[in-house]
Amino acid sequence: MKKVKAFAPATVANMGCGFDIMGMTLNGVGDVVSVEVSEGDELIINNVSGVELPDDIEKNVITPAVRALMAAAGMKRKIEVTVEKKILPGSGIGSSAASSAAAVYALNEALDRPFSDERLVEFAMEGEKLISNGVPHADNVAPAILGGVVLLRSYEPLDIVRLPVPEEFCCTVAHPEIMVSTAMARQVLPKEISMHTAVTQWGNVAGLVAGLTMGDIYLVGRSMKDVVAEPHRKQFIPGFDQLKEEVLAMGALAMNISGAGPSVFALSKNMQSAANIGYAMEKHFKELGHNADIYVTKVSNIGAQIIND
Ligand code: HSE
Repeated sequence: MKKVKAFAPATVANMGCGFDIMGMTLNGVGDVVSVEVSEGDELIINNVSGVELPDDIEKNVITPAVRALMAAAGMKRKIEVTVEKKILPGSGIGSSAASSAAAVYALNEALDRPFSDERLVEFAMEGEKLISNGVPHADNVAPAILGGVVLLRSYEPLDIVRLPVPEEFCCTVAHPEIMVSTAMARQVLPKEISMHTAVTQWGNVAGLVAGLTMGDIYLVGRSMKDVVAEPHRKQFIPGFDQLKEEVLAMGALAMNISGAGPSVFALSKNMQSAANIGYAMEKHFKELGHNADIYVTKVSNIGAQIIND
């Protein structure tokens, strides 16, 4: 019998304009999952997190991720997974991704690392497929495993590019107490976009990548504009336009929806500014009748980690 515990961080998917292809890692917020491997052929998932998770393991994102890894390893084992969630499901900061990322990371370690971290991304993506109307995407799981800012240049084949994280790159995330499922947030998106919209969006994606590479946080900020998903998703976030205007006037480099929402995130060039924006976001949601959890953190290069008790 071998038992391994792993941590995987919260992540901000899309980073504004990079729908399904960009994601970044938050420092210090995340999920802890332990995996116990022994002889047999069974998957058990225990939830000790105090957060409600599906009782049916077929509906838990960890199940397809673990099965994909075991199938690739060509092994059968009894696997007991214990989830100590810290990120609330449906928060928009990669809650499901952190769980499946931590699970495959711990399982790989327990099996003496048959797979690279990049392969683990592919397994964890199976969990995302379960909750995204069958569309696998890696913009949360890749940064949750690898850390930092990650670009998915291609899905077929998977081509993962790690981008530099600027020195002073501070993030405020507000998670208002509203439930928006990823499936629901994807259903409202258009199936097709105009050429004009596409040109605007790919200009911004290119600007974002260039800004990160050049360490130009102002270019990063002005490139973080999403004309594809945000116009359709902001309806789920009370007072979104008003909050964005306020936060940008306070000096934020950018503000966008985090992943599928309902969380929003703003980038700042120092922690003081990020903290002030956090107060403003909390006040905004409170005034509209919603409590909000606020995270003020640096964008981090640290992905999934083994935890030694
Ligand atoms: N890229 C995904 C989306 C992230 O925006 O739907 C949420 O999992």
